[in-house]
Amino acid sequence: MTAQRAGFESERITLHGAGKSDEELIAACIGRIGCIAVDGIAELQRLADISRNGHTATVMLRLNVGVDASTHAFVRTGGKDSKFGIHPRDERAAASLLSANPQLHFAGVHAHIGSQIYDESAYLENASALVAAAERFASFGLQSERVVIGGGFGVPSDPDGDHTRLDVAATVAAAAALVRSAATERGLGAARLGIEPGRAIIADAGTTLYRVLAVKRQSHRTFVVVDGGIAENPRPALYGARYHVTAVTPRHEEDQEITLCGRSCENDELGTMRLPREVGPGDLLAMHSTGAYTYSMAGNYNRFPKPAVVGIANGTHRLLARRETIEDVLRNDAV
Ligand SMILES: Cc1ncc(COP(=O)(O)O)c(C=O)c1O
Repeated sequence: MTAQRAGFESERITLHGAGKSDEELIAACIGRIGCIAVDGIAELQRLADISRNGHTATVMLRLNVGVDASTHAFVRTGGKDSKFGIHPRDERAAASLLSANPQLHFAGVHAHIGSQIYDESAYLENASALVAAAERFASFGLQSERVVIGGGFGVPSDPDGDHTRLDVAATVAAAAALVRSAATERGLGAARLGIEPGRAIIADAGTTLYRVLAVKRQSHRTFVVVDGGIAENPRPALYGARYHVTAVTPRHEEDQEITLCGRSCENDELGTMRLPREVGPGDLLAMHSTGAYTYSMAGNYNRFPKPAVVGIANGTHRLLARRETIEDVLRNDAV
């Protein structure tokens, strides 16, 4: 819905999800999206049933090709321990279902192996495993027009961390060359390499501004409490995501180590970092590179209202999403 409202053409939208509602499967059959990445044999059967009455859908099969990328377990979406993708044992059944339902157009094979991956070799391993899968589907009579290696291209998030940035252009060029040569070697038709970059495109476009509410020097640590936290950015609490934070209010004293945290009733830490010693209540802090997976993950945890989103370009600004009020949070209460 967000993409559609932004004017994105439906043919260019691919719908993903480890589980999909009937409403989403219907959307794939009535042209509201260009392609559906089917993530299970039962889902494929449901799609076949829903599309039978004169509808069509373009289908990619999201496979679990067993690539276990080196990243946090919560954002690893391949390998034997993942809920994502069609298990190899179900590939033949998936091919039979597609062949028996010509209203479902098979577009090709897909595997997204996770997020914040900095290792080119994981993408090459994925591309190679997908070409092997395309060969299996070709032997079942289904030609893959696309081989899609997903996204997850790592961007730096923490100035003190080990990671820099994955060279996306070099990685994609290497994966494309691999797909081309492996497909030719195996006698497959020409397949297009597909990628789904998310964070690598949008992360740096966003900055979150926090107002400091309190600075508390406790026995072991100094805590800086801000007017946000897990409600509008659950990533640090969920899987230890780290961010670069700087003081916006000019401060010149030397830095000290602090723990940034929200104001929830848990220890909702946003990270340990260095900030100028005189940072105090009322100061503004900027958390950088929050353009991806921050506002879209924000909720009303602990019944806090969501913050506003403001777009800035060429010296002007525009409100993109208004700040929620308490009335917004209460609007669905039935009593
Ligand atoms: C199927 C799929 N493709 C691509 C992405 C983009 O990942 P990233 O933003 O890490 O590049 C995601 C993220 O969840 C995804 O689920």
